[in-house]
Amino acid sequence: ISSFNMKYTLILFVFYSLQIDHFGFLEDGTFKQRYLVADQHWQQPGGPILFYTGNEGDITWFCNNTGFMWDIAEELGAMLVFAEHRYYGESLPFGQDSYSDSKHLNYLSSEQALADFAVLIQNLKSSSPGARQSPVIAVGGSYGGMLAAWFRMKYPNIVVGALAASAPIWQFPDMVPCGDFYKIVTQDFAKSGNNCDANIRKSWKAINNVSSTASGLQWLSEEFSLCAPLKSSIAAVGFKIWLQETWVNLAMVDYPYQANFLQPLPRWPIQVVCKFLVLDPGVSDYQLLHGVSQAVKVYYNYTGSSSCLNTSQTATGSLGLLGWFYQACTEMVMPMCTDGVHDMFEPEEWNLQAFSDECNAMFGVRPRADWAGTVYGAKDIASHSNIIFSNGGLDPWSAGGVTYNITDSLVSILIPDGAHHLDLRFSNDQDPPSVRAARALEVMYFREWIRQAKRPQTASAP
Ligand SMILES: *[C@@H]1O[C@H](CO)[C@@H](O)[C@H](O)[C@H]1NC(C)=O
Ligand SMILES: *[C@@H]1O[C@H](CO)[C@@H](O)[C@H](O)[C@H]1NC(C)=O
Ligand SMILES: *[C@@H]1O[C@H](CO)[C@@H](O)[C@H](O)[C@H]1NC(C)=O
Ligand SMILES: *[C@@H]1O[C@H](CO)[C@@H](O)[C@H](O)[C@H]1NC(C)=O
Ligand SMILES: *[C@@H]1O[C@H](CO)[C@@H](O)[C@H](O)[C@H]1NC(C)=O
Repeated sequence: ISSFNMKYTLILFVFYSLQIDHFGFLEDGTFKQRYLVADQHWQQPGGPILFYTGNEGDITWFCNNTGFMWDIAEELGAMLVFAEHRYYGESLPFGQDSYSDSKHLNYLSSEQALADFAVLIQNLKSSSPGARQSPVIAVGGSYGGMLAAWFRMKYPNIVVGALAASAPIWQFPDMVPCGDFYKIVTQDFAKSGNNCDANIRKSWKAINNVSSTASGLQWLSEEFSLCAPLKSSIAAVGFKIWLQETWVNLAMVDYPYQANFLQPLPRWPIQVVCKFLVLDPGVSDYQLLHGVSQAVKVYYNYTGSSSCLNTSQTATGSLGLLGWFYQACTEMVMPMCTDGVHDMFEPEEWNLQAFSDECNAMFGVRPRADWAGTVYGAKDIASHSNIIFSNGGLDPWSAGGVTYNITDSLVSILIPDGAHHLDLRFSNDQDPPSVRAARALEVMYFREWIRQAKRPQTASAP
């Protein structure tokens, strides 16, 4: 057990032993799962528990980036628990060998993770007398939000409700159009500066043109201050993928105030990026790409401390990308496509066979593309209850999210000025009114679920 202080609040790190395989009986091994507890504001006995359903990364990162739970703990008298997802952070079923091959990776699935959370909560409740009657609310963002929603669907006996923030539970085959995700990215750039999206759309051809000669490749490498110079036009393909990921990440973190990821980013970073992309239609390929290089440096060098740009790095260092690739290659199959007309990217169709072949080459497994729909209900989820789906209008993941009210207790909250789960972040003076309103509504639902749980059960057995 170790601990750290966050905003003067002590967090305990605890490890708890769980089955490696909840669903079969042959593999009887256990592993240690990490979870974080903060109970300074918890009103015993019976005070609520807000339970973060950890996603693909180090749980301390999600703990630090889910300020909403910290902001409301006192008013709800709630205990906070942040549970790490198996195979991420320090919760490794087979230690250093967890990623060594597909045999060791076999127990990495959302179903196993949900079962971990359920067993953990049962144990917390039975080992802590003040918690026995505590209603538990699941909270999560992104994949963690999907888990929060599914947790309430699959274990309504364990959690009274769930807040699923920016949770694309419908980003699966045949549920939403595969192009919507990149359309939203494009809209974010289109509304942040004149011709911003058009110039990015044009930049791909400009890169193809310039990278067709050795001197062009050298110019590109120098212009973008790349750590490793581009050596061939094949390397330029990887370079374009890196640029595309950068634009997507910017759309996810287009927050109204300065925020920290790989490095600090300015407030409304896409507006700052687009200042460099207001260019005349007649500019040369070189002038256009000069604008693009200044634009990406907003993301990678806002503080001026980068000596070079590393095209093998895009996302935050705390996310476990390899684990997520494995999940995407098994049950979390999320079709994406672009057409270059409704979006600003090079056209690329969704090709399940090609994707499956890549997965097979990388992990020796092939995806089961329809499984997520079967196990989690696809669009037929109206029989469930007490789930809030919140989505930001700037967030590309809202394309696969629940953006309308399904029933009175499966509600959708829209935050037009919000990027990826803005509502889960610490409140900030520069927050737009839409996210303040969303948080207030979320707390109102939490109180209602807690009230329902405390009501004596009146129904009697026949
Ligand atoms: C979370 O915050 C704590 C306290 O500030 C810090 O020690 C820890 O490194 C942070 N974790 C991550 C992954 O940023
Ligand atoms: C790329 O090269 C072609 C052929 O020379 C030219 O027509 C085009 O304007 C260049 N740039 C872009 C962005 O398409
Ligand atoms: C980052 O910014 C600093 C300060 O402006 C500059 O000296 C440095 O060359 C930049 N790094 C890159 C990779 O462009
Ligand atoms: C670029 O990033 C990769 C992945 O994080 C790392 O292994 C590599 O050392 C980095 N290269 C440079 C030059 O910093
Ligand atoms: C869903 O219902 C709630 C409560 O009436 C309302 O505040 C919210 O705006 C509705 N959501 C949508 C997307 O219409």
